[in-house]
Amino acid sequence: MDVQSGHLRVGLPAQKMPPPATLVIFGATGDLTQRKLLPALFDLYCDKRLPEGFSVIGFARREKSSDEFRVEMREAVAKFARNNPMGNAKWDTFARGLYYHQAEFHDLNGCIGLARLCDKIDQERGTQGNRLFYLATAPEYYALIIKQLGEAGLARSEKGWARIIIEKPFGRNLTSAQELNRDVLAVFDESQVYRIDHYLGKETVQNILAFRFANAIFEPLWNRNYVDNVQITAAESVGVEGRGGYYETAGALRDMVQSHLLQLVALTAMEPPVSFDAQSVHDEKVKVLRAVNALSPEEINNQVVRGQYGAGNNLPGYREESRVEPDSCTETYVALKLGIDNWRWAGVPFFVRTGKRLPRRCTEIMIQFKTVPHPLFAQQVSEGIEPNILEIRLQPDEGINLRFAVKQPGQIIRLRDVKMDFFYKTAFGAAPGEAYETLLLDAMRGDSTLFNRRDEVEIAWSLMTPILQHWQDAPSPNFPNYATGTWGPRAADNMLARDGRTWHEP
Ligand code: BG6
Repeated sequence: MDVQSGHLRVGLPAQKMPPPATLVIFGATGDLTQRKLLPALFDLYCDKRLPEGFSVIGFARREKSSDEFRVEMREAVAKFARNNPMGNAKWDTFARGLYYHQAEFHDLNGCIGLARLCDKIDQERGTQGNRLFYLATAPEYYALIIKQLGEAGLARSEKGWARIIIEKPFGRNLTSAQELNRDVLAVFDESQVYRIDHYLGKETVQNILAFRFANAIFEPLWNRNYVDNVQITAAESVGVEGRGGYYETAGALRDMVQSHLLQLVALTAMEPPVSFDAQSVHDEKVKVLRAVNALSPEEINNQVVRGQYGAGNNLPGYREESRVEPDSCTETYVALKLGIDNWRWAGVPFFVRTGKRLPRRCTEIMIQFKTVPHPLFAQQVSEGIEPNILEIRLQPDEGINLRFAVKQPGQIIRLRDVKMDFFYKTAFGAAPGEAYETLLLDAMRGDSTLFNRRDEVEIAWSLMTPILQHWQDAPSPNFPNYATGTWGPRAADNMLARDGRTWHEP
């Protein structure tokens, strides 16, 4: 593709500045705040994308002063942000807007004190009564915090707006997700609720819709007449990285498939929305998720493979990780074959897989087209020729490539595959920004397009819950069943082989 280094960057649109606001992070001493939220906020600040007076209140149970909180956050930002806060005057001004509020979640006085602090910040820093609450605690506290916010009168703001961002996991199964939806909607209105899935904030994930609906040439092929199968892979080379305690309660199906991967399925398979507003996009995603087959117990046996990594490459197996049971049956790998029962996709398998400790980190959507109906070239007849493949690489090396056959130079007609490649980094001169930056700004602007609506979350759980239930009732799996650094259990290859297909190696 003829893309000169960085030349597309010139035309990038200016970003709209959100109104002044205070962000209250519940669980401010946790991993997410340190690794993602504060680094994203400081980077936004350095890029001049945060409004004047923007303030952050860290709400957590541990005793500490605002000054101690600022020092801890500076260390985290130094590790995880693009901009270095050390010896940086920008950090000093940014940090003036950082506060710490210590309280127990069950203590209503904690939220009453929070309301007073928010009012004080409004007066001193001009945040106009706009409040964004972020639930980044362990999920078992979500309902309690929501209730306290309601009782302390924080779910409404007289002068400005009040919104709430809820981190994943949103529930553990269909029933608990429905309960959490009831709890949150008893206090907040749906228009105030932002259920986050950070995949939707990734530039490349948003680009799926642009690619599909802003180009005339792909959409006519995007259906059962031309597509043979779709493969969605989210591979990680890391293991559970000290998150054994959480992961034991989750597993790959809850942690990745119910949220991130079903979102990718929805964006790949949905119909064009009437416009790009939140409601229209959610409506189309919900429609396609409703068309995904719920799997029967027999289909679960044949179409879902679970795995757990064993030791390898001098790294411990999952069962040897800290805070993991030595006989744990938690899956660190899942592969599924899904079908979508609608006119566009009937009969086209969607293979979805994710796993930890696979050979490399790579998230991609692969669309494999059907082979030509009649082979004209001798080599096509004797050796077959690879079908066209469109790869949307979500990370790393974000980009898109299309594989097609050409004639090799020479008198004899010999075909070979070539790739037409688009790389974000070369085209725009920089890798796409962090998902959390996009999503925090969107929530401040009141744009929920890239968040999940109530029904979306519940439908996703209604597809996963029968699988979780089936596994719970099934005999213990024979874990570990794949070695660190391999592409997962053999059963996942066999599943595709039964279909006459193979996994596309990303
Ligand atoms: C999180 C999961 O939601 O996504 C993690 O809880 C996973 O287990 C992570 O590692 C992957 O995100 P990314 O952006 O690195 O692909």
